[in-house]
Amino acid sequence: MSETSKRILLVIGGGIAAYKCLELIRRARDRGYRVRAVMTRAAAEFVTPLSVGALTGDRVFADLFSLDDEREIGHIRLSREADLIVVAPATADLLAKMAGGHADDLATAVLLATDKPVLVAPAMNPFMWRHPATRRNVAQLAADGIAIVGPNSGEMAERNEAGPGRMAEPHEILAAIEARLATTATHRMAKGPLAGRHVLITSGPTHEPIDPVRYIANRSSGKQGHAIAAAAAALGARVTLVSGPSAQPDPAGVDVIHVESARDMLAAVEASLPADCAVFAAAVADWRVANATDEKIKKDGKSRTPRLELVENPDILRTIANEPPGRRPPLVIGFAAETENVLEYARKKRKAKGCDWIVANDVSPETGIMGGDRNTVHLITETGVDSWPEMDKPAVARVLMERAASHLLTLTATT
Ligand code: CTP
Repeated sequence: MSETSKRILLVIGGGIAAYKCLELIRRARDRGYRVRAVMTRAAAEFVTPLSVGALTGDRVFADLFSLDDEREIGHIRLSREADLIVVAPATADLLAKMAGGHADDLATAVLLATDKPVLVAPAMNPFMWRHPATRRNVAQLAADGIAIVGPNSGEMAERNEAGPGRMAEPHEILAAIEARLATTATHRMAKGPLAGRHVLITSGPTHEPIDPVRYIANRSSGKQGHAIAAAAAALGARVTLVSGPSAQPDPAGVDVIHVESARDMLAAVEASLPADCAVFAAAVADWRVANATDEKIKKDGKSRTPRLELVENPDILRTIANEPPGRRPPLVIGFAAETENVLEYARKKRKAKGCDWIVANDVSPETGIMGGDRNTVHLITETGVDSWPEMDKPAVARVLMERAASHLLTLTATT
């Protein structure tokens, strides 16, 4: 079972739906998760710690000020030893405390002290759910990166009350747990200047098939594009990296889509929109073979030497930079790999492609940039040119993404 090592810390709030947690624990353990429970004082009014403990197979934690608990395993360790914290039922009061950063019992102290992803399953009366205070708290929690499952609409425990507020069913919470763990396997908790932003990056070369075994390619290593993806993720962005064939490992915390040809790259990029920032670092083949064959071309001595007929590939950067507002990422960054007249060509390229910034570099063989570890770049924006000192590619990536983060901030401030 693949999830056997995943540990869930279940914070049980004080609501009638707390009884559903027993079913949730049973199902989660059936799926191979290890479950440990923290109960608020009110939760113990609805389910007993004894039944919860019997199902988790672990002791149940309840009181922040229990000296025994803190000595044995404190609130910090409780949160550190989990892969995911699930709050169910998340009462209106518990949501308010979380949104306000309170820590006056073990459950809230764990939630404030954690650096782990959190999933909440709200459960309350429909009037409480619709109340502006709850609306504000839920919006705040969502902005803080907390995932929410439910509530469902339906009959409430109170007679004649119906509407949104029923806690999601255990199987729905379990599905949300699995989705959350799947994304957190690749996404870190969003913190940093790019938190809440989606950055889309192309990287590597493309391979344009000649026949099933041969292709046209170029010398791009993908080092710079992959470094940009890693830097964006480190600054808190959700990152989609569309990579052509590259020996570079997939950067941690990044969604990677592997493609071969320029046309596949364009399709993957378009499917990944919207994005706040798109960086086109791939060395896309300008041409593909028009007469590519489905069968391997044979050297049989009779046929004449094959002639490759080339046709221009779609320009991914130009296509995306010219998308209508709303679909066009607010910051579109292209690269210009030149071997002469670097600044002049790059300035022209910025205009011709319709992008906001161009990162220009000299890729003449003697620079060792193409495929190498270091880079000397010029950043061309609407307002001018910044020539950066020679740096390694991760440093170029970091500076570029920091600059993108502050630019996006000014765009947000002025819109
Ligand atoms: N690019 C792209 N799709 C293409 C060609 C290029 O997205 N079909 C992007 C690259 O990722 C890069 C920028 O366009 O961000 C510039 O690519 P470059 O190869 O330097 O320029 P070209 O447009 O190919 O022009 P030229 O070869 O004439 O310099």
